[in-house]
Amino acid sequence: GVVPKIAPSMLSSDFANLASEAQRMIGSGADWLHMDIMDGHFVPNLTIGAPVIESLRKHTEAYLDCHLMVTNPLDYVEPLAKAGASGFTFHVEATKDNWRELVQQIKSKGMRPGLALKPGTPIEEVYPLVEDENPVEMVLVMTVEPGFGGQKFMPEMMDKVRALRKKYPLLDIEVDGGLGPSTIDAAASAGANCIVAGSSVFGAPDPIHVISLMRNSVEA
Ligand code: DX5
Ligand code: ZN
Repeated sequence: GVVPKIAPSMLSSDFANLASEAQRMIGSGADWLHMDIMDGHFVPNLTIGAPVIESLRKHTEAYLDCHLMVTNPLDYVEPLAKAGASGFTFHVEATKDNWRELVQQIKSKGMRPGLALKPGTPIEEVYPLVEDENPVEMVLVMTVEPGFGGQKFMPEMMDKVRALRKKYPLLDIEVDGGLGPSTIDAAASAGANCIVAGSSVFGAPDPIHVISLMRNSVEA
């Protein structure tokens, strides 16, 4: 459904204090915690994997919105399910003809499948996975090149969000990269309802204010 979700990206948190950072975000009004899993191969950065998700899960019941920037997402399904991941969003660029198996496995392990696309990937590539009889349940439109927090929002990606929202009125559409008070209106008016925000939330003196400001923009 299109209920707004605000998902702080824990990539911008203090990884040495992940549990308290997660609790601080939930206490500030966050709906989900966005977990950026990078393998140093699909993207030129290396972050966290299933062991860290498993550790964090012991400290929070929050929805862990895992974004897999990895070359072989299928290898991560079982470990992440065991670790307590909630959503499993893989990249369309990392799949070939194995995406049906991947979606089926994600669902059978009790996670929610999402599909991400990089800025250079045409939106048409996600349509078959949304329209399949066993579909992905969210599409993540990247609004920066994946790999690092703190980059500049790419407004031209809103054409993809608008095209998706027109075709799929009830689909969860997530945007990720450069979102904050100055870019939220573009994303919300295009039809995004799940908002990832890293540096704008963690860099703010008052995360409660930034989160509520973004939620109100999405609801409007
Ligand atoms: C980038 C990650 C994002 C990133 C967002 O590869 O997928 O989730 O952490 O951070 P900001 O909001 O700072 O662009
Ligand atoms: Zn992300």
